[in-house]
Amino acid sequence: MATQKTALITGATSGIGFAGARELGRRGWRVFVHGRTPEKADRAAARLRAEVPQGSFQPVSADLFSLIAVAELAQRMSALAPSLNLLWNNAGGQVSKRILSAQGVEWQMAVNHLAGFALAHHLFPALQAAPQGRIVFTSSSIHSAAPRAIPRWLDSPPGRYPTLGMYGQSKLANLLFVQEFARRHSGGTVTAHAFHPGFVKTNFGSGADALYHNAFLFAVAFGISPDKGAETALFLAESPEGGTSNGLYWYQKNPKTPSRRATVEAGGRLWDESEAVLATLIQSSR
Ligand SMILES: NC(=O)c1ccc[n+]([C@@H]2O[C@H](COP(=O)([O-])OP(=O)(O)OC[C@H]3O[C@@H](n4cnc5c(N)ncnc54)[C@H](OP(=O)(O)O)[C@@H]3O)[C@@H](O)[C@H]2O)c1
Repeated sequence: MATQKTALITGATSGIGFAGARELGRRGWRVFVHGRTPEKADRAAARLRAEVPQGSFQPVSADLFSLIAVAELAQRMSALAPSLNLLWNNAGGQVSKRILSAQGVEWQMAVNHLAGFALAHHLFPALQAAPQGRIVFTSSSIHSAAPRAIPRWLDSPPGRYPTLGMYGQSKLANLLFVQEFARRHSGGTVTAHAFHPGFVKTNFGSGADALYHNAFLFAVAFGISPDKGAETALFLAESPEGGTSNGLYWYQKNPKTPSRRATVEAGGRLWDESEAVLATLIQSSR
């Protein structure tokens, strides 16, 4: 019998992540269903079990705004799944004002980028223990809305908080992460990918002002289903291409050229700034 594959999907309590969890469960994967709180994760896992009774769904939780909670989640995951085939960094959200974490990281950069960066760092040994570990980020075509000049990657610019610009910056960071990861880990067994799911009918961005949230709901009113939105991630998790390619941006199961802002220089700077925050936290926990 083939060994059962294991996935951790963040933000699997609704939308694209929930649909992807359900499909991987149907395909025989062991799926860790991440939610912001234990209650949300438990509820989602229970719904998944009801919809796919033969599936293996285990709830795990962490508020991804907190790097300490992310580290605790990773520690728990390392014990539960010493070999991890897929880390799907899918969770994401929007806010409409500058909110800083305990480490001074802006909310959208903390949740949409740094939490995934930290999970990839902490769970790298588990990904290496799988024959072909894969990291997938749910990015967005909105990465092209990132500001032209980004003096500090993990904070917003001074002045009025640019909700959409910061979202674009965080989604550009997803892309830059996979590109830089591929440069640093070429020839290894672990690969990283970012993809745009299309415009998907979900309740995304409920943490932002009504103006932004309603604009999103209007834009996706005729969008695709969460099942369709999850397809490219599932392709990257299971196809040979997901194991042979590294550091690319995908849309509809095909590589796509990202914005010209996804430069080597930007990727290096983002990586260094993210690593520095993580290193401070690791040092202070010793
Ligand atoms: N829908 C689209 O058209 C579209 C297009 C391009 C990219 N995306 C990306 O797709 C991903 C999934 O979004 P979706 O459309 O499926 O929306 P969604 O249904 O709102 O899913 C987002 C998930 O992320 C979780 N999340 C948000 N903030 C969190 C936090 N601080 N800690 C832990 N979990 C948190 C949410 O949990 P809560 O319920 O607790 O908030 C939810 O489970 C996001 O990364 C988004 O940027 C979406």
